[in-house]
Amino acid sequence: MATISIDPQLCSHCGICTQICPLGIILPGGEDDMPFMPDPMDEVCVKCGNCEAFCPEGAISPLFSTKHSIVSDPLSDNMDPEQLGAYMRARRSIRNYKDEVVDKGTIEEILDIVRYSPSGINMQPVNWLIVHEPDEVRKISALTIDWMRDIIDSDMEHPMKPMMSSLVSAYDMGADPICRGAPHLAIAYGAGNLAYTDCVIALSWFELSAPSFGLGACWGGFLKVAASSYQPLIDELGLPEGNSVQHTMMFGYPEYKVHNIPGRNPVKITWK
Ligand SMILES: Cc1cc2nc3c(=O)[nH]c(=O)nc-3n(C[C@H](O)[C@H](O)[C@H](O)COP(=O)(O)O)c2cc1C
Repeated sequence: MATISIDPQLCSHCGICTQICPLGIILPGGEDDMPFMPDPMDEVCVKCGNCEAFCPEGAISPLFSTKHSIVSDPLSDNMDPEQLGAYMRARRSIRNYKDEVVDKGTIEEILDIVRYSPSGINMQPVNWLIVHEPDEVRKISALTIDWMRDIIDSDMEHPMKPMMSSLVSAYDMGADPICRGAPHLAIAYGAGNLAYTDCVIALSWFELSAPSFGLGACWGGFLKVAASSYQPLIDELGLPEGNSVQHTMMFGYPEYKVHNIPGRNPVKITWK
């Protein structure tokens, strides 16, 4: 069966679908002058749905069922760059959390936004392990500290080694320098090297979406590195065979409010 189906009653032959297809496999001039995708190309289509998204007549039937539709054009009608810029600039890494659990429905709502993030050739390789049990998050912090203790006690060189002693001391004094006492973790995982970039993009979307739900998040860099190499932690996470942790984020309700936006280096641009 053809991947795309175009309604001849609705198609205005504007040719936009032939121009926006990322692989150029929708061709003009098919039967009755309709755009068409030659049969062998069905296999190549990445099912990004851009033909469907950009068709002004709604002539291309959906590739997947979706509950989302554009009522007005959010890119030109609603979205004020000032407002969006203020929202994005106000995002901060959150390292202090309320002792309050986020309900699973809210997390699913965020992930429903995040699944629209871009991925190479629309492979959508991102899988999620959501650690919802706060006690399990504490266990994961403890295992990450065990990993650090092993490295400190060994002759092993590690770029993070100089930081480890103070993190372990802080942990021994009752702090959680790994997951910062967050109630939950979002762990993006997948198979193969190609999954990495897409998982990082998806987590960036997660972090950016979080404040609109009243939540805050922070990347878990130490955890990510430990989860990629320390077998007891790998075993604890128990990902399906062939998959590995690509990156991690802690999240929950922030204890403190952001009042100011700190400065950053000037942008470095080369124009050609
Ligand atoms: C890949 C990556 C890993 C990070 N790992 C940690 C971490 O393990 N612990 C932590 O407290 N912050 C971590 N951070 C947060 C950075 O420290 C933070 O983004 C940076 O200081 C800028 O602050 P801001 O996010 O509030 O703008 C990480 C950030 C990134 C992008």
